[in-house]
Amino acid sequence: MRALRLLAMLASSACHLASGQTDDMCNAQDRTYSTETMPAGTHQPYDKLNPVVGMLSTKFYVTVVNLTPHRFMLEGTHSYQMDIFDFGDVPQGRARQNAVKYRGTWSTRDDAGEAYYRIDGTDKRFALRVKSYIPSSDPRRVVLDLSGMGLGQREYVYPGGDTAVSLVITGSNRFGFQASLRHGPGNWMRNMYDVIRDRPVRHLIMPGTHDAGMSTITDKIVSIGSEENTQNQGINIYDQLQTGSRWFDLRICSVHANDDAGRNNGFWVMHVNDEMATLAIGNTGESLDDVISEINRFTSENPGEIIFFAMRYLVGRYEFPDRGPILWNAAIVDDFFSKLRAIHNRCLHLDTNTGFQNHKASYFMDHNEGKGCVILLLNGHLDGRESPADGIYDIGRMTIRDHWSNRMQASDMVPDQVNNWRSVTRGGGASDYGSFMIAQWLVTPDAVATTAYSLQNFAIQPTNPSLYWAGVNGMDPEHWPNVLMVDYIGVQQRDQWAWNRLSAEMYTLAVGMNLYMASENCDVGRRRNPLLRRGEMGMVESRGVPWNGIIFANGTTVDDPDPMLHLGRVEILRNGTVFGNGTVVEQSMPNPWL
Ligand SMILES: *[C@@H]1O[C@H](CO)[C@@H](O)[C@H](O)[C@H]1NC(C)=O
Ligand SMILES: *[C@@H]1O[C@H](CO)[C@@H](O)[C@H](O)[C@H]1NC(C)=O
Ligand SMILES: *[C@@H]1O[C@H](CO)[C@@H](O)[C@H](O)[C@H]1NC(C)=O
Repeated sequence: MRALRLLAMLASSACHLASGQTDDMCNAQDRTYSTETMPAGTHQPYDKLNPVVGMLSTKFYVTVVNLTPHRFMLEGTHSYQMDIFDFGDVPQGRARQNAVKYRGTWSTRDDAGEAYYRIDGTDKRFALRVKSYIPSSDPRRVVLDLSGMGLGQREYVYPGGDTAVSLVITGSNRFGFQASLRHGPGNWMRNMYDVIRDRPVRHLIMPGTHDAGMSTITDKIVSIGSEENTQNQGINIYDQLQTGSRWFDLRICSVHANDDAGRNNGFWVMHVNDEMATLAIGNTGESLDDVISEINRFTSENPGEIIFFAMRYLVGRYEFPDRGPILWNAAIVDDFFSKLRAIHNRCLHLDTNTGFQNHKASYFMDHNEGKGCVILLLNGHLDGRESPADGIYDIGRMTIRDHWSNRMQASDMVPDQVNNWRSVTRGGGASDYGSFMIAQWLVTPDAVATTAYSLQNFAIQPTNPSLYWAGVNGMDPEHWPNVLMVDYIGVQQRDQWAWNRLSAEMYTLAVGMNLYMASENCDVGRRRNPLLRRGEMGMVESRGVPWNGIIFANGTTVDDPDPMLHLGRVEILRNGTVFGNGTVVEQSMPNPWL
């Protein structure tokens, strides 16, 4: 069967070549993106954010995102102690929210469920496993086993009730695959230089971070902003860059002594309800000095990227912020600009006759002798002041549509964001959308709800996971935003912010959107989708040494496990086990998929 399919594939590509077509040209007939209708998904209900209610939840999801030219074929499932174990094929370019519901409670000890997939037209396989571990403080888990693709295994804990764990896969059999179990190299743009170099910046897709410097609470102003209601990220700017973020929503204020507006206690990232209000409520995050050294550390290790810092606020506040803003005078602006001059790889004297969104990626990536650009954009209260000679530009140098939904529930925010990016078309000559679009994939709960449930839980439970089914299924080769801006980038598990506890869904989504989705649109690039081209193997090597290890739920990583070790794998299917086709096992039997 498989041999036949392979032969058919070879024959069809030989045929294409024989008909005079070069392997290097994008051709609409080669499109692999599937328009198949996917089953509707479900957003986490609001009450499940309550930890007591959430603890009793018996419903979970495993979302699978396919950003490859191959269909993911479900070979079979079995489950024990589950009422619902609904998994299915994931076509090319699509996502499926697979549902699991335990029978009774999830704490049955002997529950088990597995879904076995194979990647069509290849010899690659993966398995998804759901199992509860009693007793354990993190009992509800899923294992993503990609050892059959040489991409390792990872055990995840569900972050709350009715929540999802997501798996994103991109690449192709010819090109090599990568998946969201671990982050790839920091310089993801440079790594696909050949793919994106001729695309204008408005045809790139990149992660963004909202209130980016608010990864800590530093109390430089006296206010009630707490970690629950004012902290928007778990990791600092350096780690955000490593997780792939290239658009930073950074809000900066100077903080002034209460009794002397002339005494400036330095520049701080700040998050307040309204920086111009008489009484500002919020708190400070990282210092500008720390932000700058983190940027410089990243770009020295990862040259060649395009990184945007869009800086808002740019006013002063008193330590006790109850007397309105202090508008920056020339001296403070000078101070601020001289700080910014410490950022390496700024891009001086950029051509401002062309909107920055219309310059090719290579225009920025080739700058500074190939070290790339850190582009500083001022979007505060500075009346259009800028300094192109220092690489500091007014935000108006780029035409941007920044869409904020201002909704409390993910179920309201999601359709609003998807409709916004679907209202414009990418590629296609005159109809090509000419601006740079930011999708703020985040919810805006009121103060009571954030204090009760925390911005972190809103991000990691209902909001970020919905990007991987509702968001992905709202995209296609003609429709996508340029920036996917989130809170708590990379964070999968509450308060687990160490690098080895992060998860790479956003990173892999961004890589896959540029590599696969945008490449399927021949109006975005004349060259053939790199995933379908021959002779791209060089890029596989640049993505690093193959890794087929295991990351356990507690973060412990084993690089070289016993090849027979597959977390959560069921060897014997006991009587009462249900197959995907509804057949019930009457007598215990060996697992037929092993
Ligand atoms: C993490 O889990 C693994 C597997 O259960 C275990 O062997 C290891 O000791 C644990 N590590 C820590 C630090 O708890
Ligand atoms: C499984 O088999 C055992 C032993 O024969 C029997 O006691 C039990 O009721 C069976 N369970 C189911 C769900 O059929
Ligand atoms: C259901 O699936 C199982 C496992 O693949 C298989 O053994 C069985 O024959 C199937 N039953 C039917 C009715 O198709």
